[in-house]
Amino acid sequence: MTERASVRRAFSRAAARYSELAGLQREVGDRLIDVLPSSARATRVLDLGCGTGFASPGLRARFPQALLCPADFSQPMLALHRPVQGNARVCADAHALPFAGRAFDLIFSSLMLQWCDLPRVLAECARVLTADGWLCFSTVLQGSLREIDAAFSGIDGHRHVVDFPAASALHSMLEMEGFSIEWAECATRVEYFAHAAELLQSNRGIGASRVPAGGRPSMLGRAALAEVCRRLELGRTAQGVPLSYELAWVVARPVPGARG
Ligand SMILES: C[S@@+](CC[C@H](N)C(=O)[O-])C[C@H]1O[C@@H](n2cnc3c(N)ncnc32)[C@H](O)[C@@H]1O
Repeated sequence: MTERASVRRAFSRAAARYSELAGLQREVGDRLIDVLPSSARATRVLDLGCGTGFASPGLRARFPQALLCPADFSQPMLALHRPVQGNARVCADAHALPFAGRAFDLIFSSLMLQWCDLPRVLAECARVLTADGWLCFSTVLQGSLREIDAAFSGIDGHRHVVDFPAASALHSMLEMEGFSIEWAECATRVEYFAHAAELLQSNRGIGASRVPAGGRPSMLGRAALAEVCRRLELGRTAQGVPLSYELAWVVARPVPGARG
């Protein structure tokens, strides 16, 4: 199975419980709605990697007249997307968008890019965005899920957390694809769980438990899983067992003349 197919499968499996478990994702998306540029007058808005549609009501409120296009490559996620007036849901892979050039004047994307080949998806965003459009996204940076990474270290010889980009690498990739950053914010968020097993279950439940390419596709044995939980429990604080996210919210625009 390719890297992308395994991401799609993880999210499709997670779809049914995603809305219930994805508290942090909802919070991150709400923040992205809050920081949408007040000067943006978008009429065609793409919600890329829309999931079950957390952002739709906020986008509709912010752009009451716009054509909203929620898109995701997971059919089960899209199927749970509640229809919002004026929406046209599209099943699409961000690496090869089925839209004409300059089809949108604003792309909104919350917590999808970290699962993608970033330069390729940024190039697609640049292609489908108008020359004076806006790319507004949130993403996960290096250091995220570090508790899971550490707990699995040496367990089966594979990394269990994706290589999330550093902020500087993200910046460079945006520049290379012809975007300039208008505004950005980074923050650490920590979720706490009653037990290590709950932490792992929740991570799987939101589709983020994928084994990276070359990783171990089969289930871990009982002893290995117990060891992973034991290690996670070592990090317990008064609030519970922590799981950290390094987050970025970015508002970027195409650099004039960077594209033909
Ligand atoms: C963490 S969820 C975020 C969903 C939604 N934006 C939210 O904030 O709740 C990531 C979403 O991105 C989608 N996704 C991941 N890679 C994708 C790709 N290459 N093309 C389209 N959607 C993708 C997944 O199917 C999933 O629905």
